[in-house]
Amino acid sequence: MDFFLDTGIISEIEEAATWGIIDGVTTNPSLIAQTGRTQEEVITDITKIIDGPISAEVISTEREAMIKEGAKLAEINENIVIKLPLTIDGISACKWFSDNNINTNVTLCFSANQALLAAKNGATYISPFLGRLDDISHDGVQLINEIRQVYDNYGFQTQILAASIRHPMHVKECALIGADVATMPIKVVKQLFKHQLTDQGLEQFLKDHANANK
Ligand code: G3P
Repeated sequence: MDFFLDTGIISEIEEAATWGIIDGVTTNPSLIAQTGRTQEEVITDITKIIDGPISAEVISTEREAMIKEGAKLAEINENIVIKLPLTIDGISACKWFSDNNINTNVTLCFSANQALLAAKNGATYISPFLGRLDDISHDGVQLINEIRQVYDNYGFQTQILAASIRHPMHVKECALIGADVATMPIKVVKQLFKHQLTDQGLEQFLKDHANANK
């Protein structure tokens, strides 16, 4: 399972990159807005830290404008993945990028049928938003299950990129189902390392070592 960091904050990416477990980065217009910088500046900086897929989302809403905007973003670096919203225009633009060998991440997916549409047009990644479904009392994890089943039924190569992940249980459940990627904020990545028995055990080992070497 690949781990992507869901952020536009460079210091977070620099910190997590040293851990060796981060395979890529996802951003969205809200995350870029939090940085107070342009998308091009942020994405260019990320390419200097991470040698893996980096999702950059188009702001345009019409097919031709999406293609123009996405093609320009793709010129920044070969690792750029063009993020497109799950609309008729977005799915149609996805076909153009697939035909032109540019990787895509179809975002704002909330149903298995939407995921099927993205896969039919050759999306590299589909981003179902777990947390936002849970927020409205729908089962986000169940959506990952359904998409896995649909893709496996037909052998689609589109990778399931579980997004809007809020806590470690989401990560574990997605891994059990076989989601290809989990993108998460740095807070959740840090939580994955934690276990109270690890902390207690380490404390005891160090105490015993110190006592034996007085
Ligand atoms: O980047 C897309 C997604 O991960 C956003 O998450 O927490 O804003 O629902 P969230």
